[in-house]
Amino acid sequence: MTISGKARLAGVMGWPIGHSRSPRLHGYWLEQYGIDGAYVPLAVPPDRIEQAMRALPALGFRGCNVTVPHKEAAYRTVDRLDATAKRMGAVNTIVVGEDGSLEGRNTDGFGFIENLRSGAPGWSAADGPALVIGAGGAARAVVASLLDEGAPRVWLVNRTRARADELAADIGNSDGVGAIETADWVSRETLLEGAALVVNTTTQGMAGQPPLELDLRALSGSAVVTDIVYTPLMTPLLAAAQARGNRVVDGVGMLLHQARPGFAAWFGREPEVTEGLKAAVLQG
Ligand code: ATR
Repeated sequence: MTISGKARLAGVMGWPIGHSRSPRLHGYWLEQYGIDGAYVPLAVPPDRIEQAMRALPALGFRGCNVTVPHKEAAYRTVDRLDATAKRMGAVNTIVVGEDGSLEGRNTDGFGFIENLRSGAPGWSAADGPALVIGAGGAARAVVASLLDEGAPRVWLVNRTRARADELAADIGNSDGVGAIETADWVSRETLLEGAALVVNTTTQGMAGQPPLELDLRALSGSAVVTDIVYTPLMTPLLAAAQARGNRVVDGVGMLLHQARPGFAAWFGREPEVTEGLKAAVLQG
């Protein structure tokens, strides 16, 4: 694909940025749809993030993704926030308006839900309580989106209980839905019994990390299990769940689906998540 002088431009700001799979993801779509555009990695140190974001309109960029550690700085810098970004306190997608203003969005929760919908057809957040394990940045998007999609209850457990309580206070109180219950780390296996969905948002199970310690014995056979870790795709948690007959959804789809709204806004086409895309993103 040639890039002309009229090419539509976007990218991803992070520090470091070398490991980001977003350039490959968007690059695949640009190629697939024959769009005159480019999506580039942008290595921006924390002390220059505001300057870099403010430069987007002058450079002719239509926007960018924002990743670790800049999602909170983006939240503070943009001119406007959509409702989800406001609730999350973090921005992962910036869209430059006609007037050069910056709009901050957060599509992580959208990616999480869409991944479950496509990986476990018929699944609905309203099916029953969800058990969310971990209370870092990713958990915020997971919990908020589950509540927005009608989960009757979210049980939140984290090794450090205080972080779970903080997340529940931030997310639960913002618009009154708030059916979040936090619990101690030791009670996670007891909570499995009533869960229709189990989500690992911790780093446990990632290549180089020990598996998440979770005995699935009490889990109902109809429950869906998902992991936001996608290296490896089949984490020890997912393998254990699959072995006992539960439906499992791997984590890479969250990355693929969260990219859709940004691509549509910058490049003018609703992209599709396909097996080809997944293979390209996971390659190497
Ligand atoms: P992010 O914001 O990117 O999601 P993070 O804030 O580092 O990442 O969160 C990582 C999550 O993995 C946290 O919930 C963390 O638990 P703590 O809040 O107690 O640190 C969890 N985690 C990391 N190592 C863990 C371990 N050995 N056992 C259980 N949970 C762990």
